[in-house]
Amino acid sequence: MTDRPYIRPRRLRTTPAMRRLVAQTSLEPRHLVLPVFVADGLSEPNPIASMPGVVQHTIDSVRRAAAEAVEAGVGGLMLFGVPAAGDKDVTGSGADDPDGILNRALAALRSDLGDSTVLMADTCLDEFTDHGHCGVLDDAGRVDNDATLERYVSMALAQVEAGAHLLGPSGMMDGQVGAIRAALDDAGHTDAGILAYTAKYSSAFYGPFREAVGSSLQGDRRTYQQDPANRDEAIRELELDLAEGADIVMVKPAMSYLDIVRDVAEAVVVPVAAYQISGEYSMITAAAERGWIDRDAAILESLTSIRRAGADIVLTYWATEVAARLH
Ligand code: PBG
Repeated sequence: MTDRPYIRPRRLRTTPAMRRLVAQTSLEPRHLVLPVFVADGLSEPNPIASMPGVVQHTIDSVRRAAAEAVEAGVGGLMLFGVPAAGDKDVTGSGADDPDGILNRALAALRSDLGDSTVLMADTCLDEFTDHGHCGVLDDAGRVDNDATLERYVSMALAQVEAGAHLLGPSGMMDGQVGAIRAALDDAGHTDAGILAYTAKYSSAFYGPFREAVGSSLQGDRRTYQQDPANRDEAIRELELDLAEGADIVMVKPAMSYLDIVRDVAEAVVVPVAAYQISGEYSMITAAAERGWIDRDAAILESLTSIRRAGADIVLTYWATEVAARLH
């Protein structure tokens, strides 16, 4: 025995009720945002082989998936558009065309759901360009930052006019938040917000997404996305995005960048989002399919870790499923 007070941290782990009482991090449906892919020219949803359980939607099926997600209580939806292969071009003209797939899907969902959820749109050209880059190219074939900003502005206006509440510029062009904010304000769209992809790293874990959006990219995005080796640069990007008017800031990917999520969360008072990307989804799914990990537990643990690191909002392909499970 002992004459010292017997300190036993395990006392607080003895029963499920005790653990629930002292749990520091919570996961609620409203914290989760569902990314969805809507493709043009499909007669039925098209499964994405490298993301089992995720599909490219038709407009009809995305309406059902969105209604189900909202019913489950998710915080919002992030839409990506996938034009038919023959409709991609060098400037990504489908992106700001009101009849482009993404804008049609936004209009359909806004008319179904009104303000009952938060509709977000990917404001980026890579799904729409035939070369697959997030911007337009100069004569030398390099991504032209300022010419791209003009395209983002046009795309942002089309998306807000179609019904988006929040725009998600994901292309990592310098000045993208400021250019979009100024254009929205000039057009009177002062209530439309910007979820800035603040620290978006050039990641190998985006692999399955490239299949999901039928990307035609040859090469990589290292001249615009951040180098995984860099930490301080995320804070530099953060300061710029805040100064340019970002309403919410995001770190992406999530799991390999939890230190960055923590850095950003400690530096700001605006909400922080993190994106659990395609490769994160696919790794857990594949390992679970092989019986190597417990799928449901791994999903919850991954999302809890991202919240614990400091994310207020988590974009995850499991949003609907997990939100429903949390009830
Ligand atoms: C680019 C974009 C990417 C993702 C979202 N927007 C991929 C990329 O940069 O190649 C990745 C999402 C995911 O992997 O789940 N506009």
